[in-house]
Amino acid sequence: MKQMLKGMITIVTGAGRGLGEALSYGFAQEGAIVCPWDIDEENLNKTAGKLETMKRLGKKAKVDITDEKQVSKEMELIESEFGGIDILIANAGILYSYEITEFPEDRWRKIIEVNLTGYFICAKYAARLMKKKRKGVIIQINSKSGKKGSYWNSAYAASKFGGIGLTQSMALDLAPFGIRVNAICPGNLFESPLWQKSLFQQYSKKWGISIEEVKRKYVEQVPLGRPCTYKDVINVAVFLASDRAEYMTGQAINVTGGQEMR
Ligand SMILES: NC(=O)c1ccc[n+]([C@@H]2O[C@H](COP(=O)([O-])OP(=O)(O)OC[C@H]3O[C@@H](n4cnc5c(N)ncnc54)[C@H](O)[C@@H]3O)[C@@H](O)[C@H]2O)c1
Repeated sequence: MKQMLKGMITIVTGAGRGLGEALSYGFAQEGAIVCPWDIDEENLNKTAGKLETMKRLGKKAKVDITDEKQVSKEMELIESEFGGIDILIANAGILYSYEITEFPEDRWRKIIEVNLTGYFICAKYAARLMKKKRKGVIIQINSKSGKKGSYWNSAYAASKFGGIGLTQSMALDLAPFGIRVNAICPGNLFESPLWQKSLFQQYSKKWGISIEEVKRKYVEQVPLGRPCTYKDVINVAVFLASDRAEYMTGQAINVTGGQEMR
């Protein structure tokens, strides 16, 4: 089958684990040359190693996306090595969950810093390179929490709602330069470390039910009757990155099995 992203230079932030790692391999399978970024060097090396065996590694980099100097420097290095970039996947994100009156200010600020300001910084410097080629695609990994508030989740929801405003505004600024900007809003990714290592146990304890019952409770909210998978997100991201989506910009696409309708 024809690869949809052959030779496309693609930065994936938060590529060390979870969805970002899966997106890196998914894009590599479609022929993209992937530049994985992460703040966690050990996981970054693991992802880069696998991309290398797939012969699709561009340039790996330990980058903190909230640090403008690190981001601009790395973009310069990629430009000198590859002549620019074609695709940015702004995936890196964090979540801390507290009831609003107990939310520590430093944790609030950190979430906004990584999920919103980090997205802005990466998109700013990616767009500078894309403007020179008058072509490019920026995809933000948002969340269903970017469209609907949720309990104990004020900072994360605020950061993700903000991400949709940023996506739309950048889409307007960059449309004249042939650059498209869209967001994907996935549902619950049960296979992610977030759910596997923390949320299942947390909710099971909070509600006094088993992990299997927690899973059932969430899946019952999904009309299509199953959790979101990495593959569901990769499919939509590959489409948005490809020329098949050439008339789409400023959108925030739900990949939720219809969950937002319930
Ligand atoms: N897991 C879910 O159910 C789910 C659902 C909807 C949306 N999302 C979104 O998907 C994205 C990925 O989520 P995940 O569950 O794979 O998370 P994860 O915690 O497994 O992975 C996030 C990666 O980002 C990296 N990172 C964190 N801060 C960084 C920084 N300042 N600079 C560079 N890298 C940094 C981490 O080291 C980690 O490797 C996030 O934006 C998240 O909001 C996740």
